[in-house]
Amino acid sequence: MNARLASLQVLQQIVQQGQKLDNALDSVIPQLEQSRDQGLLQHLCYGVMRWYPQLEFLLSQLLHKPLKKKDADLRLLLLLGLYQLRFTRIPAHAAVDETVALTKRLNKGWARGMVNAVLRNYERRQNELELRLEQAPTARTAHPPWLLTALQQAWPDHWPAIVEANNTQAPMALRVNDRRGNRDTYIKRLLDAGLEARPAAHTESGVILQDPCPVEQLPGFATGEVSVQDGAAQLAATLLDAQPGERVLDACAAPGGKSAHLLERQPDLQQLIALDVDAARLQRVQDTLSRLALTATLVTGDAARPASWWDGQPFDRILLDAPCSATGVIRRHPDIKLHRRQSDIPALATTQHAMLLALWPLLKPGGTLLYATCSVLPEENTQQVERFLATGNTARHVPLGASWGYPLSAGQQILPGEDEMDGFYYARLVKTS
Ligand SMILES: C[S@@+](CC[C@H](N)C(=O)[O-])C[C@H]1O[C@@H](n2cnc3c(N)ncnc32)[C@H](O)[C@@H]1O
Repeated sequence: MNARLASLQVLQQIVQQGQKLDNALDSVIPQLEQSRDQGLLQHLCYGVMRWYPQLEFLLSQLLHKPLKKKDADLRLLLLLGLYQLRFTRIPAHAAVDETVALTKRLNKGWARGMVNAVLRNYERRQNELELRLEQAPTARTAHPPWLLTALQQAWPDHWPAIVEANNTQAPMALRVNDRRGNRDTYIKRLLDAGLEARPAAHTESGVILQDPCPVEQLPGFATGEVSVQDGAAQLAATLLDAQPGERVLDACAAPGGKSAHLLERQPDLQQLIALDVDAARLQRVQDTLSRLALTATLVTGDAARPASWWDGQPFDRILLDAPCSATGVIRRHPDIKLHRRQSDIPALATTQHAMLLALWPLLKPGGTLLYATCSVLPEENTQQVERFLATGNTARHVPLGASWGYPLSAGQQILPGEDEMDGFYYARLVKTS
């Protein structure tokens, strides 16, 4: 096994079997012993996913006729080769030779000549291909057509910056556990360990690492002094602002980043219920809380059907970090470009609306519900909250008045890359009676 063959396996799992990039990587990484190979594997897989629409376009220009369906593996091999030539500093001869050599590992030695010719042609025809790319917006921006149109419609002034951020690797962001230390001291410890870092804007405990590193290298990670979490996600606990003695529901809790932060920030809650419909993902919440020595009540259940899990005791605060298109976190999960379909958006919006309607009666009068998504699409954000407010219930929208992002008619939006944060949406709803 080498890094390129491993990359091909990961790409096959994503493209041919519909798996998520993270999960596919987790299943293949252990097959590589050297950390250098593991790094190359990650770099190649993230890169190919990030630029997939563009690489596909280039390949279509370079092939005389489309490859047969049974040669889907060769197609991915060619995309992997093109990625190395176009976006990495790997010497061209090594990129071509290593890619050609893999045809044998696929038992397709007959394709050696074709793979070699396509990659060499790319090098020869680069200038002409650049001009063609200029004429093909979805290929140039490396976004599927429906998503590019949706971004242009939703953010007429900002879509070029969103697209650019989506195609840029996100920084590694950390959250220092306030119960165990403070940010300034932890930044000094990072520097002592040779890791350059700075405070993350707008957060109470966030840190941005200059260069990403394996979590094992972070001082105190195993003992719960720090967690990995984007700055925008860290705003949830601050905005929810849970108080001592309160009963709080995290309605879509897995993998548990925000639950953990809520508990770190407010040690004296009466109870935190961490709910998720997915029992396997809920186990990850338990793992996170165990590492941080925190306790919550973990419940497997459907947030849109409280009758099956709610004990009838109302909540002071509810965090609804709803399942969404994840269009704000494409820079961290570039396979979203491939997996997400336009038809997913109305389906997600229906689920989000059902959750809001179902959870509202669980809130005490005067209580707060914080609605959050990592989406940049209005259907899941402002329109969703406005639709809920229009149902004539006891909800009042309370603007966040935040110094980050963009205030909207309902809620506040952070766009990806702004102040080094992921794209996130937050809206605060208070129950009037
Ligand atoms: C955006 S993620 C939550 C991330 C989490 N709050 C965190 O900070 O780590 C959305 C979660 O909603 C869960 N989910 C999806 N449908 C659900 C439902 N009907 N009821 C409860 N949870 C649901 C998914 O399993 C997923 O874990």
